[in-house]
Amino acid sequence: MSQLIEAVIKDKKSWGDYFFVTFQAPELAALAAPGQFVMVKVSPKGPPLLRRPFSLASADREEGTIAIFFQRVGLGTNLLSRYSPGEKISLIGPLGRGFSFEDLAFPGELLLIGGGRGIAPLYYLAQKLKERGLKVIIFYGGKTQSDLPLREALAKKKLADKLILATEDGSLGFKGLITDVLEQEVLSPLAKKAFVCGPEAMMKKVAELLRRWNLPGEFSLEAFMGCGFGVCWGCVRWIKRGQEYQLVRICQEGPVFSREDIKWSEEE
Ligand SMILES: Cc1cc2nc3c(=O)[nH]c(=O)nc-3n(C[C@H](O)[C@H](O)[C@H](O)COP(=O)(O)OP(=O)(O)OC[C@H]3O[C@@H](n4cnc5c(N)ncnc54)[C@H](O)[C@@H]3O)c2cc1C
Ligand code: FES
Repeated sequence: MSQLIEAVIKDKKSWGDYFFVTFQAPELAALAAPGQFVMVKVSPKGPPLLRRPFSLASADREEGTIAIFFQRVGLGTNLLSRYSPGEKISLIGPLGRGFSFEDLAFPGELLLIGGGRGIAPLYYLAQKLKERGLKVIIFYGGKTQSDLPLREALAKKKLADKLILATEDGSLGFKGLITDVLEQEVLSPLAKKAFVCGPEAMMKKVAELLRRWNLPGEFSLEAFMGCGFGVCWGCVRWIKRGQEYQLVRICQEGPVFSREDIKWSEEE
């Protein structure tokens, strides 16, 4: 059950165009799961009138906090980036269906593959997987090193047993696409599943690799969202239901879907 609340900003960190904002929101923290998202009213009266969707990047039930990690890309995220600790903002959440990881047990090894801001839901998921004692290998890629601001927090909080970084310009980690590194990685026989979020082209390539390796994977998809809770049908995508593809609301039945259910190209 999602909630509509006015949440106070507790903390804000920034690195160039990336922001990690923590809210005091015990009602949401109590219900949150990795892969779910919140709809944020970035301006009390608008513009923009529509709320913006952001994955939960963390939730702490004891502290009663949730967090989002976002990239400033346009009007809404620019307004959101200007809020300061102490200010209030309207949130609806937690929304959608998140990652399935409850059945995973030690000694499983999980691959978390994030491109740029796509690391947000994986950052939260990694916390939960480490709590369960699972081995977590994180692949984190971006165009340049400034696109990987969460690398230090991932290392400091020991959220990855192995953290593999890649930048297209070679300024940090491997030079090239994160999918190139993934392709070269020798997969452990303990590898159980992959969790993926990032730009569409990256996710499509990862889906191809997982199919080749016969490894299950879940992908957090992005779509333009009007409402975030199933009313406007603005977020639909072709998803396999039974034997055929159907137009499915990403906000309602996702944003997380299994690799084999997602229609990656017109030919499928
Ligand atoms: C379920 C979900 C979870 C998300 N989680 C995160 C997150 O954790 N961190 C984060 O930084 N972003 C996330 N996003 C994307 C984020 O919602 C958009 O970047 C944001 O809405 C852009 O708002 P804006 O007003 O700044 O941009 P606008 O001014 O509306 O647009 C600026 C540019 O961003 C593009 N854009 C806008 N919305 C989207 C979108 N939904 N998908 C792809 N491109 C878009 C536009 O085409 C345009 O080029 C998520 C989106 C969804 C659907
Ligand atoms: S965003 Fe409105 S139905 Fe999905």
